[in-house]
Amino acid sequence: MDAKVNMQTEKKALDWANLSFQYLRTDSRFSANWKDGSWNEGELVSSELIAVHEGAPSLHYAQQCFEGMKAQTASDGRVLLFRPDLNTERMDLAAARLLMPAVPRELFMRGVEEAVRANYAWIPPFGSGASLYIRPMLIGVGENLGLKPAREFEFRVFVSPVGPYYKQAGLSVISLAVSDVDRAAPRGTGSYKVGANYAGGLLATKLAQEVGASEALYLDSKEARYIDEAGSANILICTKDGVLLTPKSDAILPSITRRSIMTLAREQLGMSTQERPIDLRAEFSTFQEAAACGTAAVLSPIGKIWFDGQWHEVGDAGSNVGPTMQKVYDLLVGIQRGDLEDKHGWCHEVSI
Ligand SMILES: Cc1ncc(COP(=O)(O)O)c(C=O)c1O
Repeated sequence: MDAKVNMQTEKKALDWANLSFQYLRTDSRFSANWKDGSWNEGELVSSELIAVHEGAPSLHYAQQCFEGMKAQTASDGRVLLFRPDLNTERMDLAAARLLMPAVPRELFMRGVEEAVRANYAWIPPFGSGASLYIRPMLIGVGENLGLKPAREFEFRVFVSPVGPYYKQAGLSVISLAVSDVDRAAPRGTGSYKVGANYAGGLLATKLAQEVGASEALYLDSKEARYIDEAGSANILICTKDGVLLTPKSDAILPSITRRSIMTLAREQLGMSTQERPIDLRAEFSTFQEAAACGTAAVLSPIGKIWFDGQWHEVGDAGSNVGPTMQKVYDLLVGIQRGDLEDKHGWCHEVSI
């Protein structure tokens, strides 16, 4: 084995099983630039710092969007992405909404694959419970003082090995607190993965944590009645009569994890599923189990929800994981890690 190959394949000496969800600097990141109407080829760079103009619209007017994905090591050593086509699709929608140039699919995938491949040593090994978080981002970097789109953009992909988003490994039961501040307006940007939504949500998360919750739960911002989503995850409910429900709302991020789970529950677990507005207070007594789902959260069962000044326990499982969410989690994670048959062809192997 030559020195170069050896360097690429030797894993870093990290305590993989005890990683948390935070940034760890890896060796390389991918960067491409858009100027005068076209993208350059892009390349791997070593610096994690970006030099942007002080007048950049991404800094002043939040003209930026991003994605979140994970690479996992399968038991046979393959490195798998989960439905990256849906991340490219979602970034296209955000770019169009914020008047940014689309990142061509070929460039998006090449950037993701090159960043993953170049940081092979940082990809958590199979069985560690950790994964490589991938953050593609598109930012307006050229100078502009007036409120108008940037004239130059950067597409960048960096990666970081991460552990669970919520504290404990595997399936941990979390709690949510209904937020008094809104995340997104009707007809606003709630369904796009744009930084502006998250800046407004920082206070909601802080307030939720002050009452002891893991994270904020947003209700619709028109009537404060229907469940929208959590700060960084969509919501799933299993009712007492066994229906898997998820909120229908134009203001939430169309979670790739949630869409996948709804398909798997229907097709592989034989469950009845519904996507419809869910009135939190009126329907709460019908909830048997609930969970937050997303790339970072995976599937995190919700034990209790704070609203109207008190805690409300979901179903009767207390701090235990309910049987339906356990089944859904095992199926989803089994497919993502290459342990279970991938009937839909959702896993995408990155050649190393
Ligand atoms: C606000 C919000 N909702 C939902 C999700 C879940 O989306 P996905 O399953 O595509 O990661 C995320 C990101 O993880 C998010 O930031």
